[in-house]
Order: sequence, then C-alpha cells, then structure tokens
Amino acid sequence: MRIVVLKDAQDVANFGANQIISLLKVKPKSTLGLATGSSPLNLYQKLIESNKQKHLTFNNITTFNLDEYLGLDENHPQSYRYFMNEKLFKHIDIKIENTHVPNGSSNNPIESCELYESQIANSGGIDLQLLGIGSNGHIGFNEPSSSLVSRTRVKTLAKDTVEANKRFFDDDQFQPHLSITMGIGTIMDAKKIILIATGRTKADAIKATIEGPVSANCPASILQMHANATVIVDQEAAYKLDNLHYYEHIEFENQRLLKAINQNNNLN
Ligand code: F6R
Repeated sequence: MRIVVLKDAQDVANFGANQIISLLKVKPKSTLGLATGSSPLNLYQKLIESNKQKHLTFNNITTFNLDEYLGLDENHPQSYRYFMNEKLFKHIDIKIENTHVPNGSSNNPIESCELYESQIANSGGIDLQLLGIGSNGHIGFNEPSSSLVSRTRVKTLAKDTVEANKRFFDDDQFQPHLSITMGIGTIMDAKKIILIATGRTKADAIKATIEGPVSANCPASILQMHANATVIVDQEAAYKLDNLHYYEHIEFENQRLLKAINQNNNLN
C-alpha cells in the first residue's frame, strides 16, 4: 500500500486528480470508478479545470459510480446520479451515456446489481477506482461486517452513516436506509485504487485502514491486500498513525527514485 501524507485538503485533491490525469494521458479510453460525498469535490473541480483548459478530454472514458441510495430517482437532489451530473459530468466533455450509477429507483434492485456487475465486466473492468472513506471505515456503502469478497448488492446503511448524511436531507424528507453498492470484491478488482481522506474525523478510520488488521470491521483495511492501492491523506487524517514518519520517509525515497529514473541518473 502506498501512503501519501500531504499538507492539506487541496494538496490531497491535486495529487488525486493528477493520478487520474496521468492515467488518461496514457489510456484515454479508461474506465474510471467514481465516488460521491465531500471528499472528491475539490478533486473533481481540478479535473473540470483541466478539461476546460483543454489539457484533458473525457470524451472516450466510461465511468461507474460506487453506490446509490435505494428509493431515490435520478432527479432527486440527494441522489448520487444527480450529484455526479451537477458536480462533474455537466462540466466536462464526457458522453453521459458512458456514465453509470446504480439504479436507485429500480423495481428489481437485485437484478440491477447483477446488471451493474456485467456492465463493469463488459467495459473491460475498472482501471482506476476513486474512494472516500466513512468515519466507520466503510468504502462505497460497504459498512462494517460486509463480506470482504462481496459483489454489487443491496446494503443496509449503518446508523452512523445515516446520521452522518442526515445533514443533506430536510427534517420532513424521506432519507433512505438502503443502498445499492459495488461490493468490496468488485472494488478490489480495479487495477488501481486511490483512497482520499481529509480531516480529523477520518483519523480513526485511516489508522484502522493502514495499521489495523485486515478485518470486515474496517472494510477499507482490505486495501492492504491490493497490489496497487494508494491512500492519500492530509496531516489531520494522518495524525493517529503510529508510523507516520516512516511513511513520509518511504514516499521521499520513492520520489527520489522516480526522479533518478526519469533523469537517467544513479541514486548516489
Ligand atoms: C460515496 C461513498 C462513501 C463516501 C464516504 C465518505 O460514493 O462511497 O463511501 O466516500 O461516506 O463521505 P465524505 O466524503 O462525504 O466524507
């Protein structure tokens, strides 16, 4: 697992966006896995700027979002489809028909989950999956106790998650307690994974993800078993890590190595 600790949320967004930009430069027809929530907002803004300045095109990419509330149709302002349209898709040159979000208003959600899995497979699989993390360690809506090999399915939200997301719903508004989410196995099939987290409310989850045992109790800890996963955090989200200085040292050495390779120098 690569661990990148940066100064603040903006640096995390820039670093994360650059991972996506670099991939699209070498593989313009990539399939991206995307997330909603507050974590990726600045990163999406950076991608929008890059697209507007014509440094980058999304014309050939396909996207799959991690999750959607069950019971909200795509025009509902709290649906994740609406979020993605408003926060990213509307502002870039992506073909909307190539964007996928699980169907939250499906009459047969179980069938919709199977369809979602086959659509991901038919696209050739996810090249890069972007993740946020819940303060309880969830990824997508894979709450603690989720099977570490689960596939896309209907999932009941944890009380903490309903509570954390209450801020987006009016008091008299229906707030879903069920979701459709990519499974942990689905996420782990991505060729590359980047998880971004900022702020002290994520510090416990980040410690459990990086330094805890691999456990369904902290679903994100499964990333320890992925061959190409990068966790990008700010100082606040990293402050509980026991081996923080060691991770910073490794990253420093990694950068030195890359620079030497790029300049065709030796490391002395
Ligand atoms: C959203 C998602 C969730 C969020 C997580 C963090 O698509 O899959 O796992 O990434 O709940 O949310 P924020 O970023 O709002 O703290």
